[in-house]
Amino acid sequence: MIEVAALTKRYGDFTAVRDLSFTVQAGEVLGLVGPNGAGKTSTLRCLSGIIAASTGQVRIAGHDVTADPVAAKRQLAFFPDEPRLFDYLTVRQHLAFVARIYGIDDHQRIAEPLLVELEIADKADQLPGELSRGMKQKLAIACGLLHGPRVMFFDEPLTGLDPLGIRRMKDSILRRARDGAAIVLSSHLLHLLEEVCSHVLILKQGEKIAHGSIPDISSQFALGETNVSLEEIFLRATGGTEN
Ligand SMILES: Nc1ncnc2c1ncn2[C@@H]1O[C@H](COP(=O)(O)OP(=O)(O)O)[C@@H](O)[C@H]1O
Ligand SMILES: [Mg+2]
Repeated sequence: MIEVAALTKRYGDFTAVRDLSFTVQAGEVLGLVGPNGAGKTSTLRCLSGIIAASTGQVRIAGHDVTADPVAAKRQLAFFPDEPRLFDYLTVRQHLAFVARIYGIDDHQRIAEPLLVELEIADKADQLPGELSRGMKQKLAIACGLLHGPRVMFFDEPLTGLDPLGIRRMKDSILRRARDGAAIVLSSHLLHLLEEVCSHVLILKQGEKIAHGSIPDISSQFALGETNVSLEEIFLRATGGTEN
């Protein structure tokens, strides 16, 4: 569902992502981890077609993100770390607006159950300024899910949520994966990633240093030990240093 081939992203002379290749199948959740500055956000933005890759190819449900951006974007949703909302649209008006952008008729049929699932139905007539951070994030997610994307990218979706918010976010992500979505999420909350992800890709200074299912990665870095946490694996794989 997500195919990434030799993706490189440069900003001027600086290479933020170098020669990155991987695939994510329907129903898989890939955790993208790495120290600050490793290139996670740059990767997710290239995969979503928000910024252009310098070289390499990204295909979303068979559509090239650069050559065929509209077809690719119909199949994907990108959730940035900071929800970006319109100050003067209510919750319900956000959904109506997004529905028009995507050409969704009869959007209420989809929007109302989404508001209930995300527990913001009682806020439907409120403006973003009246919502907590967690509720703003839920609204951004409702907007992103409205067109039924089969591919989802989440950049640090759990940051800033309270424990109940984290639990709900995990449940929403897992439900979409069970329904056949291919999902990539970046996070520093490694113990939470262990509960959500089927696979992990570790980036360091823009390069892939490990990638595989959680059991595969564990056996690669566990050095014969059992029950090694993803956090410990991350520290071993990245040398435990900030960059
Ligand atoms: N628009 C930009 N212009 C120049 N450098 C950037 C830009 N965006 C990110 N970078 C640099 O690219 C590297 C990777 O950044 P980023 O993808 O945000 O990493 P992460 O999300 O893993 O923390 C960092 O060194 C960052 O400073
Ligand atoms: Mg980032």
